[in-house]
Amino acid sequence: MCKSNIVTSQPPLITTDAVSYQANGKAIVEDISMSIHKHTLTAIVGPSGSGKTTLLMLINGLLSPTSGTVAYKGTDILELDMPTYRSSVALLFQEPLLIQGDGRTNMLLPFEFSANEPKTPSDDDMQKALALCKLPAWVMGKDVSTLSGGEKQRLCLARTLLLQPDVLLLDEPTSALDRRTEDHIVDLIVNEAKERTVVCVTHSRQMVQRASTIYAMMGGRLVSSADSNGEVDIEDFLGGSP
Ligand SMILES: Nc1ncnc2c1ncn2[C@@H]1O[C@H](COP(=O)(O)OP(=O)(O)OP(=O)(O)O)[C@@H](O)[C@H]1O
Ligand SMILES: [Mg+2]
Repeated sequence: MCKSNIVTSQPPLITTDAVSYQANGKAIVEDISMSIHKHTLTAIVGPSGSGKTTLLMLINGLLSPTSGTVAYKGTDILELDMPTYRSSVALLFQEPLLIQGDGRTNMLLPFEFSANEPKTPSDDDMQKALALCKLPAWVMGKDVSTLSGGEKQRLCLARTLLLQPDVLLLDEPTSALDRRTEDHIVDLIVNEAKERTVVCVTHSRQMVQRASTIYAMMGGRLVSSADSNGEVDIEDFLGGSP
């Protein structure tokens, strides 16, 4: 199922064409065809185990489709230089990926490995990214093992924003947040989508309501039309209270 408000003559930035992925003989995602347009926010919803993370990893090139194609600007991503592609189309993992040390060490981590040798961010850049994610500057000097789950999640988001990718692939970026902080991060992500392109796996009602396109997954597939309009009730895919 895809609900989209996009009216554009521009070709999509990213397409998946009949993408399937199997692991250990099991179909994890099946026959996914979707179009992601520049400067839009696409929400991907679906129950636990429906294949959302796997789909983001296929789009990011961390997994290769068993069949079908992921294309970026019209080129099969398998033909692209992967490190360069991944620095343009950055994935924020569902679980915060942090190493031992303080916030600064963790924020600088991707810059040690980046393909494009981007300018290492200054303390000021890092503070701004933290502030955008409603985190205080002292997080830079704080041992990350002492941060809360929601703080770790936002530290990872701030780190991904610092990379300034063209496309942000976000895997449940507000799952550990209280409602007020969630609202703030949703505002931030909606804002980012104006100048980048954002694909966000989410259970957040606020995020879904503000997305320009919504894809719903179930059992590894995009949910096919349950009625003649091709619509299914998005409420079935959201957790929490309105
Ligand atoms: N390498 C693998 N081998 C076997 N099964 C796998 C593999 N990777 C994922 N799966 C299974 O595929 C299904 C989809 O996993 P995925 O992580 O994509 O789901 P998800 O929609 O992101 O779920 P959640 O909302 O809980 O994060 C799950 O049942 C998972 O256990
Ligand atoms: Mg997941």
